[in-house]
Amino acid sequence: MDNVAKLEIDGKSYSLPIAVGSEKERGIDISTLRQSTGCITLDESYGNTGSCRSNITFIDGEKGILRYRGIPIEVLAEQSSFVETAWLLIYGRLPNRKELKRFSDLLTQNEMLHEDLKFHFEGFPAHAHPMAILSAMINATSCFVPGVLDAYDPAKFELQAARLLSKVRTIAAFAFRKSRGLPIVYPKPAFKYTANFLHMMFSDPYEEYDLKPEVVRALDMIFLLHADHEQNCSTSTVRMIASSQANIFACAAGGVCALWGPLHGGANQAVIEMLEDIHRSGDDGSKFIVAAKDKKSGRKLMGFGHRVYKNYDPRAKIIKEQCDKMLRLLKIDDPLLDIAKKLEEAALHDSYFVERKLYPNVDFYSGIIMRAIGIPLEMFTVIFAIGRMPGWIANYKEVMDQVGGRISRPRQIYMGPTEQPYVQIDQRIKK
Ligand code: SDX
Repeated sequence: MDNVAKLEIDGKSYSLPIAVGSEKERGIDISTLRQSTGCITLDESYGNTGSCRSNITFIDGEKGILRYRGIPIEVLAEQSSFVETAWLLIYGRLPNRKELKRFSDLLTQNEMLHEDLKFHFEGFPAHAHPMAILSAMINATSCFVPGVLDAYDPAKFELQAARLLSKVRTIAAFAFRKSRGLPIVYPKPAFKYTANFLHMMFSDPYEEYDLKPEVVRALDMIFLLHADHEQNCSTSTVRMIASSQANIFACAAGGVCALWGPLHGGANQAVIEMLEDIHRSGDDGSKFIVAAKDKKSGRKLMGFGHRVYKNYDPRAKIIKEQCDKMLRLLKIDDPLLDIAKKLEEAALHDSYFVERKLYPNVDFYSGIIMRAIGIPLEMFTVIFAIGRMPGWIANYKEVMDQVGGRISRPRQIYMGPTEQPYVQIDQRIKK
């Protein structure tokens, strides 16, 4: 295979080096292109553009492979925990017992919010979307975190990262409680990460939530499966903000906003809304599939398709298995799961979806589990954000640890008007 690409422009030939990744992916390195040819590349929505070299997560979309620091997602889902996987993503290897305990203790020590932050929650209307609250309160929390505005210091990173990962869970639970007019429930140091989140979400001052181990395990796995996914929209946003050397809380708040869109993390909420619509209409899904193939309908089969996976999303497979287990355990018969399975079966045998290689993605079944656990619809994308936090933190660290890292600043092809005179107001077009 060549390690140089040849480019010819206006009869002149140029050689561009080809970067080769550890999994033999190849990328034409165009970092000197404009300087040597006067041209830039154009790749709207970046489908063909690598923004960085990264050591964190590997995806092979054709084969449906996903590995965090080289470890297959299926193995981590089976044998690891969200907190251990967070450490793996952030620091690049599995922690030893001492490192894991230190990290877990740091998360416990930093689970509370400054008491004055309670007043910020008061300011939101009850119907405020928790993603808006989450993004706002991550930045508000940073105002109470000492040293957060100091220049990046690897020695201080560990504490800032633990603060962010721990507090995001508390902010999310407090946002939910406020939205329901319920008293906030403080974290309990005796509980580990995911159990504490469920405690803060569903306990009451007079009665503790019944923490079923299987439910804790299922949500912990949901967090783990969402923990990172290479250069998706929200992670790329975090890296973009990090490249300006903004602080880690600002980067996370930006990631939350990017994740919110229904084409990205907001899809898990949109899937359930889609399934509920189908259920309410009495359709078994077949009518909906017809609409989803018709561009004019404005409908998509939410939870299906992916920019990178042109095969079944390995996370969707794991979550689908968990759905069946969770509903059996909780003795729930959710008609939406049956509709989802019918939609999947129909789509996987429909030429429109097969030709476009559209398969279920991570969002197609995750909402079914969250519903079964009792997590409200408007909190689904918040759950995704909590899960993705380690990936954002790991990518932030990778950007900040780069020696000589530069600010990310794409170019453009300008299509607007060429030079124009300033026209006095009385001479302007009268509409
Ligand atoms: C996540 O990037 C990541 O890694 C994201 C994520 C992560 O972990 O961070 O994996 C999480 O965001 C998963 C995706 C969640 N979004 C959805 O489920 C929303 C529904 N899916 C689509 O909007 C779409 O598939 C995207 C956004 C996921 C991918 O969009 P692309 O890569 O831009 O693909 P496209 O829109 O160009 O689609 C190609 C064709 C088009 O038809 P044609 O123009 O070829 O005729 O497939 C069609 C699309 O109309 N198509 C769909 C479809 N998805 C694509 N048609 C119906 N239903 C769909 N869901």
